[in-house]
Amino acid sequence: MNKAQTAVEIHEVLANRFSPRSLDATAKLPSRDLLAILEAARWAPSANNGQPWRFFIGNRGDDTFTQILDSLASFNQGWAHRSSALVLVAGVHTRPDGTPNKNFLYDCGLAVSQMVFETHHRGFVAHQMTGFDAEKAAENLGIENSLVAVVVVSIGTQAPSEQLQGAMLEREIAPRERKALSEIVLKGLPN
Ligand SMILES: Cc1cc2nc3c(=O)[nH]c(=O)nc-3n(C[C@H](O)[C@H](O)[C@H](O)COP(=O)(O)O)c2cc1C
Repeated sequence: MNKAQTAVEIHEVLANRFSPRSLDATAKLPSRDLLAILEAARWAPSANNGQPWRFFIGNRGDDTFTQILDSLASFNQGWAHRSSALVLVAGVHTRPDGTPNKNFLYDCGLAVSQMVFETHHRGFVAHQMTGFDAEKAAENLGIENSLVAVVVVSIGTQAPSEQLQGAMLEREIAPRERKALSEIVLKGLPN
């Protein structure tokens, strides 16, 4: 139901990936899968191979999980507490010579993208969130000033939608939509 509708077939991990909010609150993420997810992120490309991404990983029930969860907007806390893991991604915003690295957000996004696809490939689900208080996260986790908190990724096991209610349930089961290619390819769309 949530599979992407595409004009031609694309990789099944890309077509089937989506960002659910109904997660199994008892499911654990095996260490080996978490390691693979982090390896996928580690091997992302980045400008000048700068690798500005840094990860803070909380497994449900541990202190880091609680500290990351506490920094989330209340809407996100409402579903993300069932995550098996919460990964806060922070980026080094300067280059080794101390000048600003204008690519660090782009690079972090690429690492998260690889993380997300490895997660789904392994049968788990990932849901990215920028609905969090970066200052609170920095305080809770002791994040140093050389880093900027960029995004929190919930990783877990999908559960039946019915455990959600109201608007959250409606969003969970709504058909996934995207702009048409003709709207986003401004020149050169193939026939
Ligand atoms: C940078 C970014 C920030 C997002 N922040 C939130 C968030 O704070 N809360 C939330 O529930 N979903 C969040 N999402 C999920 C998006 O709403 C979701 O990816 C989008 O609606 C497309 O749905 P799909 O991922 O299922 O295809 C975020 C996604 C991205 C990429």
